[in-house]
Amino acid sequence: MTEHILIERHASHPDVQIIRFNRPEKKNAITRAMYSKMAEALTAANDDATIRVTAFLGTEGCFSAGNDLGDFLAVAMGGGMPREIIDFLYALVRSQKPLVSGVDGLAIGIGTTMNLHCDLTIASTRSQFRTPFVDLALVPEAASSLIAPRIMGHQRAFALLAAGEPFSAEEARDAGLVWKVCAPDEVEAATLSAAAKLAAKPPEALRIARELIRGDQAEIIARIDEEARQFSARLHSAEARAAFEAFMRR
Ligand code: COA
Repeated sequence: MTEHILIERHASHPDVQIIRFNRPEKKNAITRAMYSKMAEALTAANDDATIRVTAFLGTEGCFSAGNDLGDFLAVAMGGGMPREIIDFLYALVRSQKPLVSGVDGLAIGIGTTMNLHCDLTIASTRSQFRTPFVDLALVPEAASSLIAPRIMGHQRAFALLAAGEPFSAEEARDAGLVWKVCAPDEVEAATLSAAAKLAAKPPEALRIARELIRGDQAEIIARIDEEARQFSARLHSAEARAAFEAFMRR
């Protein structure tokens, strides 16, 4: 089990599970083992009545730099699409408990798109959201090609997901990717306070309300599968391999 993901409980609200990225020396880039640990924690929470909400947090100044590019390079050299990524995405979609996230600083790739599956995201003023998929010769993932245009419209979704334009915290809030923006030193407390407030609500009513708001799960899963098919093919392309090698050589 990797120590790069910490599974904790909120000290004063133990019904809030915290999943924390803990690989700051690599900007919280996510390895296969990290995806697995997060998927397990999300799945276990569905059957654990002592968990009412899950909160994602990063480390100071960094939420996550996205998928570990060394892992992507390994796939480009001949492996298959990491199953752990798909399992994590399914677990996000199938989570029966509300998901909140607190972003302080970098949120790249899946560090951005996973917030589309969170019910409340709080970001610090110094946060930056960016998905350089196309620059890496890849395509959008996490059903972002379905959810982002719905919430922010074609132009902003295209700017984010295809053009790879960075979004500030305020731009992300205006686009509907983020609920609230606050000072960096307030992100964690604000996120956990939002989580604790949700955890105090009648759980069954909250579960049903959440399902109604989130819409058709099967459609989201189908888009994840379709994106994964394209993504997998792109991972094996010469242009993607060149992009990963260029990053690893820096
Ligand atoms: N995968 C693997 N390692 C990563 C990484 C990633 N996605 N992002 C950062 N790292 C590593 C760097 O290789 C570096 O490792 P080293 O100290 O052993 O050389 C360490 O994290 C620190 O990163 P560094 O690039 O020195 O920090 P920075 O502040 O100059 O830049 C980023 C930070 C995030 C802007 C830059 O690292 C970056 O662009 N990373 C790639 C992001 C990306 O494309 N993600 C995939 C999206 S699909």
